[in-house]
Amino acid sequence: MIRVIAIDGPAASGKSSTAGAVARAIGFLHVDSGAIYRGATQVALDLVGPEDPAEILRAMEARHLRYDVRDGRVELTLDGQNAEPVIRSPEVTAAVSRVSALPLVRDWVNARLREVAGLGPVVVDGRDIGTAVFPDAPVKVYLVAMPEVRATRRLRQEGQETDSVRLGEEADRLARRDAADSSRAVAPLKPADDAVIVDTSALGFEEQVALIVALVRASPLLGGGSRV
Ligand code: CDP
Repeated sequence: MIRVIAIDGPAASGKSSTAGAVARAIGFLHVDSGAIYRGATQVALDLVGPEDPAEILRAMEARHLRYDVRDGRVELTLDGQNAEPVIRSPEVTAAVSRVSALPLVRDWVNARLREVAGLGPVVVDGRDIGTAVFPDAPVKVYLVAMPEVRATRRLRQEGQETDSVRLGEEADRLARRDAADSSRAVAPLKPADDAVIVDTSALGFEEQVALIVALVRASPLLGGGSRV
């Protein structure tokens, strides 16, 4: 029985924060797959010379890009340090769709995700978790929200003002990234046929978490000894 809850969706749809809260509620580990693509992108940006996929792969290994489980939480580390402070920069965000479209990088990341899922039950969020990485996940959710709602949430998350100019610019950046992620050849962003589509535009955070926890608890495929 595979114990994976897949939460996919476009940029800034609230996947990671929702997946984290769902995981805490049901006692699963939370794995943010976007974080490792961001880590791969930082590694690629640090390379001197052209962006050769094999070089990126070698550098990811050499710099020990990996998920570590510390104090019951999954943390992305790079060079032995928590990678969070470096992977959310505007430079990484602008380049991440390009690096994550590389099949070699995707294969490497998928192997890492499956390794973590081998450690125990997980809630994994991303773009292709329900379609490509864990197509047999018993619960699949695809989160969507209106572009202006997503842009507002992202600006607030970054502690920025939400005036109409900034909102317009952020909505454009999100739309460009969604277009790139949806149109790539390998594992494009799209809902799995059996995903439940949840529009969070009008939902509060607690409501969307409760809704997904209810879906998980209702899943007959997740029974057998879990804390769910
Ligand atoms: O948090 P946000 O929605 O802005 O993005 P993220 O989850 O941190 O993902 C960053 C980027 O990684 C995405 O725009 C995709 O290009 C890529 N990604 C992917 O290709 N496949 C995944 N499973 C997760 C992320």
